[in-house]
Amino acid sequence: DRLIKDAFKDSFLIGMAGDLPTRYSDAELKLAAEHFGSITPENCMKPERIHPAENRWQFEQSDALVNWARKNGMTVHGHTLVWHAQTPNWFFEGDDSETIKQRMKNHIETLVGHYKGQVQSWDVVNEAISDGGDAKTAETEHLRDSNWLRALGPDFLTLAFKYARQADPDAVLYYNDYNIESGPKHASSLVLLKRLLDQGAPIDAVGIQGHWRSGRVPFDDIEKAITDYASLGLKVSITELDVTIRGESGGQFGRRRFRSSAPPSLEDLNAQAEDYAKLFAIFEKHQNVIERVSFWGLNDRRTWRRGQHPLLFDANNHPKPAYAAIVRES
Ligand code: XIL
Repeated sequence: DRLIKDAFKDSFLIGMAGDLPTRYSDAELKLAAEHFGSITPENCMKPERIHPAENRWQFEQSDALVNWARKNGMTVHGHTLVWHAQTPNWFFEGDDSETIKQRMKNHIETLVGHYKGQVQSWDVVNEAISDGGDAKTAETEHLRDSNWLRALGPDFLTLAFKYARQADPDAVLYYNDYNIESGPKHASSLVLLKRLLDQGAPIDAVGIQGHWRSGRVPFDDIEKAITDYASLGLKVSITELDVTIRGESGGQFGRRRFRSSAPPSLEDLNAQAEDYAKLFAIFEKHQNVIERVSFWGLNDRRTWRRGQHPLLFDANNHPKPAYAAIVRES
């Protein structure tokens, strides 16, 4: 089979997420190393895992991932420095904002510094925009209520980007979020990014996470979002791509359950393949803006949306119709 990374080598990097190589089978590691040119640590670089207490760092698993990536000629995309989730409470203990700011600075300096030259890009801030949805106020910036916002105010984003740039001037720095391609959240993302750029935040790129659902992929929004971000002078990556197939049960409209055991129908698999093909046609068209397209997982077993069959390989590492469809698109 043709390797995915080779199919797109003239356009952009192809990556995947996972906490490799620990607890992956030899067959999975071989598949990962062959098809993908970049890896995002799925959980092991998140604050709760790598910095569980103020004076405790756990680098072992991330070091193993970075070494494995280097051995296999893959780049590493660091994920994630400042986020409302999977971040331990010790960061926010006490009310003194200066102390909390220093903790953020120390976290970023130490982590980015530890991997300087080995991690080529970072999700500096993840998911700071609220889901909201009030069209009347779409023009204003909506930040998600979070410990970071409460402690440091809306400047927490600019601070995080400045600390990251200082720690590794060569790393490509991302703002990463989901659903920012559509509706009021897209409008909010433009307001936020313009404000950050005006304030001199050293932000290089936007990560569109790309957790979509087969049959409901917002193709036009995605294409417009890519060009909107490009017109701000930013690069774009699709950072966490997966397109789910959701089984319906009970036969009742609006009541869906995930049938984790039921295999997807050929019809569903072909519809998913078509969605993937259309997506990659858009990405190819905008290859001058797009740096990387990373899948969030390796196969339909190594995915946070297990049971919804979202990736290119099935649970036994066999290529699905979606694999053939995107390789054909290249
Ligand atoms: C998910 C992981 O895949 C899960 O294993 C974990 O339990 C929760 O986080 N957006 C992100 C990722 O930025 O960090 C999330 O990853 C998926 C949504």
